[in-house]
Amino acid sequence: TDAHTTGPFIAAIDQGTTSSRCIVFDKDGRIVSVDQKEHEQIFPKPGWVEHDAAEIWTNVQEVVDAAVAKAGITAADVKAIGITNQRETTLLWDKNTGEPVHNALVWQDTRTDALCKELGRNVGQDRFRRETGLPLASYFAGPKVRWLLDNVEGLRERAERGDILFGTMDSWVIWNLTGGTDGGVHVTDVTNASRTMLMNLHTMEWDDKILSSMEIPAAVLPEIRSSAEVYGSAKGGALAGVPVASALGDQQAALFGQTCFAEGEAKSTYGTGTFMLMNTGETPVNSYNGLLTTVGYRIGEQKAVYALEGSIAVTGSLVQWMRDQMGLINSAAEIETLALSVEDNGGAYFVPAFSGLFAPYWRPDARGVIAGLTRYVTKAHIARAVLEATAWQTREISDAMTKDSGVELTALKVDGGMTSNNLLMQTLSDFLDAPVVRPMVAETTCLGAAYAAGLAVGFWPDTDALRANWRRAAEWTPRMDATQRDREYKSWLKAVERTMGWLE
Ligand code: G3P
Repeated sequence: TDAHTTGPFIAAIDQGTTSSRCIVFDKDGRIVSVDQKEHEQIFPKPGWVEHDAAEIWTNVQEVVDAAVAKAGITAADVKAIGITNQRETTLLWDKNTGEPVHNALVWQDTRTDALCKELGRNVGQDRFRRETGLPLASYFAGPKVRWLLDNVEGLRERAERGDILFGTMDSWVIWNLTGGTDGGVHVTDVTNASRTMLMNLHTMEWDDKILSSMEIPAAVLPEIRSSAEVYGSAKGGALAGVPVASALGDQQAALFGQTCFAEGEAKSTYGTGTFMLMNTGETPVNSYNGLLTTVGYRIGEQKAVYALEGSIAVTGSLVQWMRDQMGLINSAAEIETLALSVEDNGGAYFVPAFSGLFAPYWRPDARGVIAGLTRYVTKAHIARAVLEATAWQTREISDAMTKDSGVELTALKVDGGMTSNNLLMQTLSDFLDAPVVRPMVAETTCLGAAYAAGLAVGFWPDTDALRANWRRAAEWTPRMDATQRDREYKSWLKAVERTMGWLE
């Protein structure tokens, strides 16, 4: 807690892939208090990933109450609540009881592979790209909704009767926060809606043609709203009565928190996965190099701002996998110590295609490989290969961004949990051959949600006021020899080739 901080404040809730957290911010965008709680990752079968949405809602309530208590404040000191969330993770619940009808299907879940292939039959992966900016892939929410309607007994009838609500985690949190079965509002924002594959990017409305191709009844859909406006107010809990005033997918929130408000500005967030987004202004830019076109944000009645996105499914979760499934380290931080105990990767390359490969390949048939093994390789080399995987995947995305946008990367703004890993940040700068900069507040996801909520209620006057809060905390510059970089990049790309074709 910062002793100089005085109210009023904004609270942000980040419902993420591995944990939920609440952060209270002051007017300078400084953190006043934080509380965080992990939830269970459920893996019923290879490639399947689920979350218990009831557990998540309980955790959200706990972290909100705890963050408010730690700040030593009351609801009266908090001007607005901002929401941000893991995107695409799909939930259907009964609006009369508030009960989820099934665990949430997490964005990493690949069970809709075959369905996506079927939807693209004769037309290809880009069937809905013009309308939605997205290739057909198991990553997105629409096919997950269809899977639930097809596989949970009796669900389709209940949905058609109007008893079932669909939402990504923003909708679930907002509905519960604003009263649930007692008057909860059923909304989503344009950024989250842009990841369902069901919204038309140009009109910002649900697309009837896509809904009928995917056989999804319109009755389940939330209302699409802007990212920064008052949706309702909290009922119950430590923040009862406070307006809920923003919602943004976590990656778009990070773009906002990094104050990338001008065309060409980009950030990359290192969490469970890694997501690089570049602001492309008021027109959606088509990608010809495997990136996504997505909504960046929309402030109230203003025009929407679009972004190009490079999505990497597995980065931080590879470190977790090394800890939880392989038992090679005891804590996530240990990966750096272990990797630093050797000079290089010993010839090993690790491509963590656990959910297929996302950008720029979009290959659902890919599965993870470790390539280049000899008897020489130790677990320390593997630790190094794990970190390098994050950096090489970023390099591939940044190459695609340059091709699509024509803008050369001059520096990369980074944030997220993994940016506390110095070796990773240096490696990233080396592989990108560009400086990497991290701001003072590395919690840019929550900060972005707080900023949007604060704008909606007039806590901050405009985006210029937010820009003034951005301060550089650390910078890494490239030290790698170009010949070596090119040679290693080739080896990486060879390893990537080895991941493909596992489903045939
Ligand atoms: O698209 C998935 C993304 O929103 C998840 O973000 O930070 O939980 O890896 P994160």
